[in-house]
Amino acid sequence: MDRLSVEHLLGIKDLNEKDIQMIFKTADSFKDVLNRPIKKVPSLRDITIANLFFENSTRTRLSFELAEKRLSADVVNFSAASSSVKKGETLIDTVNNILSMKVDMVVMRHPNPGAHEFLSKHIDAKIVNAGDGTHEHPTQALLDAYSIREKLGVVDGKKVVIVGDIKHSRVALSNIYCLQKLGAEVMVCGPTTLIPKYIDALGVKVEHNLQKALEWCDVANMLRIQLERQDIKYFPSLREYSMLFGLTMDHLKQLDKDIVVMHPGPINRGVEISSEVADSDQSIILDQVENGVAIRMAVIYLLASNINR
Ligand code: NCD
Repeated sequence: MDRLSVEHLLGIKDLNEKDIQMIFKTADSFKDVLNRPIKKVPSLRDITIANLFFENSTRTRLSFELAEKRLSADVVNFSAASSSVKKGETLIDTVNNILSMKVDMVVMRHPNPGAHEFLSKHIDAKIVNAGDGTHEHPTQALLDAYSIREKLGVVDGKKVVIVGDIKHSRVALSNIYCLQKLGAEVMVCGPTTLIPKYIDALGVKVEHNLQKALEWCDVANMLRIQLERQDIKYFPSLREYSMLFGLTMDHLKQLDKDIVVMHPGPINRGVEISSEVADSDQSIILDQVENGVAIRMAVIYLLASNINR
């Protein structure tokens, strides 16, 4: 059987193109399963997975849990708000206690960048990063690229603009790595204060005018302003942000082509995207959510094939 080049999914940075294509091919077959009346396979009947969420989540958490259940894994859930983390326990102690109950894989979301890499050096279980602070969100980038491949046939050669809070967004960084590995051209667009200083090192184009960015691209991925990660003000007001960088029908009508519109959710209607655009035919936002389950099934299935059982 084909194997991924990695033991854990810590970030897209560690994957090669072959890994990504393998995940897509596996997701294709799981997508077929999800469209059958019985949406379940027995593949991981002997595996136990813990979902550890130290940060809020709706989509990602449900999507992982569904993916695990569709693979017939045993699943336990943990959220920091109701746990002993509040009583002063360290991350390694929390996780080792969970692992001593014979857990094979940990899906974790954590506010600290690098928390997963740290954990991978200290515990004996497969780790999947479901978001580490402002750093990476690998399964989101995989499902985003997979959704582009589904809509446009290929990712190679396509032009993708990522619009918004590039500085604080883990979706942006993982998307940049993933799209580039698959041969797409990437542009970022947003206010200067929300574009990180190291952006040149990532080999992406930078544009501050939304209409120009839209004229250039085949796909626009609209991101939420990560207000919860901002300790100072990066722009005068949300109203101004939305006037300069919010995607509306007027923008789309001015183009002489139909671009694909994406958003990882949660969307803030009327801020980064208008309701009309979010609900339009050009938006693939709900396809992204649907594809998330198949992509996460593929990642978990491929990583589980390296577990000694
Ligand atoms: C993203 C996240 O949590 O990083 N959402 C998600 O996983 N679907 C994006 C965001 O919160 O803006």
